[in-house]
Amino acid sequence: MSTIHLRTQVPGPKSKALSERRAKAVPRGLSHGTPIYVAKAKDAWLEDVDGNRYLDFAGGIGCLNVGHRRDEVVDAVKDQLECFLHTCVQVTPYESYVRLAERMNEATPGKFAKKTIFVNTGAEAVENAVKIARAYTKRPGIIAFEDAFHGRTMMTLALTSKTHPYKAGFAPFPSEVYRVPYAYCYRCSYSKTYPSCDLYCARHLEDTFKRVVANEEVAAVIAEPVLGEGGFVAPPADYFKVLIELCHKHGILFIADEVQSGLGRTGALFASERYGIEPDILVTAKSLGGLPLAAVTGRAEIMDAPGIGGLGGTFAGNPLSCAAALAVLDLFERENLLARANELGDQFQRRAREWQQRWEIIGDIRGLGGMQALELVKSANSKAPASDETKKISQYCYEHGLITITAGTYSNVIRVLVPLVITNEQMDEAMDVLEAGIANVCEPKGAVALV
Ligand SMILES: Cc1ncc(COP(=O)(O)O)c(C=O)c1O
Repeated sequence: MSTIHLRTQVPGPKSKALSERRAKAVPRGLSHGTPIYVAKAKDAWLEDVDGNRYLDFAGGIGCLNVGHRRDEVVDAVKDQLECFLHTCVQVTPYESYVRLAERMNEATPGKFAKKTIFVNTGAEAVENAVKIARAYTKRPGIIAFEDAFHGRTMMTLALTSKTHPYKAGFAPFPSEVYRVPYAYCYRCSYSKTYPSCDLYCARHLEDTFKRVVANEEVAAVIAEPVLGEGGFVAPPADYFKVLIELCHKHGILFIADEVQSGLGRTGALFASERYGIEPDILVTAKSLGGLPLAAVTGRAEIMDAPGIGGLGGTFAGNPLSCAAALAVLDLFERENLLARANELGDQFQRRAREWQQRWEIIGDIRGLGGMQALELVKSANSKAPASDETKKISQYCYEHGLITITAGTYSNVIRVLVPLVITNEQMDEAMDVLEAGIANVCEPKGAVALV
């Protein structure tokens, strides 16, 4: 039985009316991918105010790996609601914060002693990771990557790569941020090919220390183990090991931003595990509870570098979010969500490879586990980004019952952040819509365009 159920043309009249109110009340800077107003959601579907039911490939931008409104998460939040809502952990602390820190210290890669601090958002967590790295190393520089996304606050915008719409018009940004190419093999900045490149992009860091910023001035290198907003680029298996070796040779910390790739998305609890690495500092958010919560977990001696009172925030690690996060970690222990992420990734890749035979627009199919994407191009040879087509496919999808979101520096990537509890039948149904969306904008290979 199909999950998608459309009662009206999409967007329906109630959503349209809300869009009009929104346009008057909310600044245009807050964009929205789909002009659909949600009424309720469960597991991998959501329903809008007009009664249309959709499958959800966006998962609140990767916040719902365990599914919308899981009973265990809802119950944990309800239990907390009955006790207290907010006290501020810096005034009168509570046990759930400490327990969650213990769980994160245990769950993140590396058997060394760790500590964790909680804040509200991914960007805030990245800001804190930078503060901690600077306090520990007593160095100012941070090296970030092309195509990286780390948030929308000023420091994280400095670390973020994409100019439009994120950075343009908002300068000046904080200084001491240096940018180097990422291991984006499909569009290698050095026009090399893996593996014959011998990971030139990672090894090139030595050159950066000579020509761009002195190694003894660099506190940390920050990287997403799999690019999120940058288009779900997963570097070669040995890339991060080489990079981290270079960092440590120079006393530089490695910060993994796992805000999007963490909490089961890639088929391991953290993508770092897929690369066999142990970051000095690891940043998580999004699916860590699915409520406003983010964590900075790192080696204990590094995390203790800032002085007493140097870290914190009024709502940071609020009790409702901590309760939800503990329930999410329990779910990962109880259910086989990691294996499920890999199965979903395989299911996606199988279908996408068939599409690649049929349509030239499918330039690259890539990802790790359940973090999968299609990069769409005008032609296989030119690799010119098919940004307009990507937008049209995404629009077709929501008009036909599938919520998708795009990504990539050229906005030509369709990414999958589906809740890992989606069933095989639902996944097939969603992929049918995506396939129809591609067919709707593309000529099959070899077809002669009619004039
Ligand atoms: C890798 C990464 N880092 C940081 C952020 C910022 O997180 P937030 O939007 O919670 O501030 C995001 C958000 O998409 C992200 O994907």
